[in-house]
Amino acid sequence: MAQATDLPRNESGISTTLGVLKQQFGDRFHAGQAMREQHGHTTTWITNQPPDAVVFPTSTREVSDIVKVCATHQVPVIPFGTGTSLEGHVNAPAGGISIDLTQMNKILAVNAEDLDCVVQPGVTRQDLNTHLRDQGLFFPIDPGANASLGGMAATRASGTNAVRYGTMKDNVLSLEVVMADGRIIRTAQRAKKTSAGYDLTRLLIGSEGTLGLITEITLKLQGIPEAISAARMSFPSIDAACQAVMTTIQYGIPVARIELMDELNVKAANAYAKLNLPETPLLLLEFHGSESGVVEQAETFGAIAEEVGGTDFATTTSTEERNKLWQARHDLYWATLQLRPGAKGISTDVCVPISRLAEAVTGAQKKAEELDLLAPVVGHVGDGNFHSLVLIDIEDADEVARAETFVAWLADEAIRMEGTCTGEHGIGQGKMPYLVKELGAATEYMAAIKDALDPLNILNPGKIFSR
Ligand code: LAC
Ligand code: ZN
Repeated sequence: MAQATDLPRNESGISTTLGVLKQQFGDRFHAGQAMREQHGHTTTWITNQPPDAVVFPTSTREVSDIVKVCATHQVPVIPFGTGTSLEGHVNAPAGGISIDLTQMNKILAVNAEDLDCVVQPGVTRQDLNTHLRDQGLFFPIDPGANASLGGMAATRASGTNAVRYGTMKDNVLSLEVVMADGRIIRTAQRAKKTSAGYDLTRLLIGSEGTLGLITEITLKLQGIPEAISAARMSFPSIDAACQAVMTTIQYGIPVARIELMDELNVKAANAYAKLNLPETPLLLLEFHGSESGVVEQAETFGAIAEEVGGTDFATTTSTEERNKLWQARHDLYWATLQLRPGAKGISTDVCVPISRLAEAVTGAQKKAEELDLLAPVVGHVGDGNFHSLVLIDIEDADEVARAETFVAWLADEAIRMEGTCTGEHGIGQGKMPYLVKELGAATEYMAAIKDALDPLNILNPGKIFSR
């Protein structure tokens, strides 16, 4: 985990570019300190590295124009959605232009009969779902934040529904992308499947702004299920809760959500969202299906969980109660930070094969305790993905060093278990050291792709790769 380091700046190129873009974009060009800092990284302990200016385009053509100016003068461009990424993705280590895509926030088409839609990158996941509700459709991918769909595609985001519906990689049919030379391409048509050439859609998804700027996204949609029920169950230990999850997944129960919260997270949620959840290790679930299907799924889960000591099984089909519960879950990152006011958070997000889940989570808890760190655990455990959120006093060098030890140890553990250092937050700046450990020589081929598509290294430099 590197504290963000600066990269060499192309001062003369930056200064010329600022002049050109200021002229071209007028009041949609901003170089004030506050606006610049807001567009650097603000969500974790990684240092804020503001861009030199922020530009607000309103069309793909304008994004292309900005990229062409930046390419001419060899100046970095950093795409910006809602700024909720956790690994320093929006920092500008070599300076450059932040392209804020929030004004490109139109839902361009909903093709209900094809179960897809086309959106601009600044549309947020909640905006889209509000728009879709009346048509009986929804888009399932839900990272904690109300992130933009462009940012979610760029970071291959997931969230609580991924266990049933997959991640962004499973839910994007096609992208319109501005490439490093300013040309505009479309990676695929709208068909549900294709064997036409290389899968550029999936190459761009998760590329974190390093291969192109996503300016339009064609998304798969889902019908709102006939019945939805939420459930919770308490457990005597984290290990017992994980055992219940592993069996549930191995039995093939099609849970839509199965989230683990440790005692500390439950306390944080109770305080932040004014809930009365029992303060024990807890699983929160959701079942989607027919009226009888959700009852059957819940019963099967309940029986599995009771076998390992689960108690206080409660279900609800009330939309209001469900929404309140899941909003509390989505706000958990902010709620948990309140457990230690003033602390900075380092949100780890390892993901392991489901059979290693209990071992990974209990191992992480033991290690944090050994290192005397406060690191509550929450997780999208149905995928084998969990967050130990390390809460640190950034002024305490010894504590920071212990946190670094923990994060590196956890990444190694996940890799040893044939898992990954990042199940959903991406590499950004924070996880660069672990990418090579995880994928070895494969990262050289990744770098070759980067060199081929962005020979001037102007697209979000210093992310995924340290140059
Ligand atoms: C969450 C974010 C931290 O799960 O990924 O809330
Ligand atoms: Zn998460």
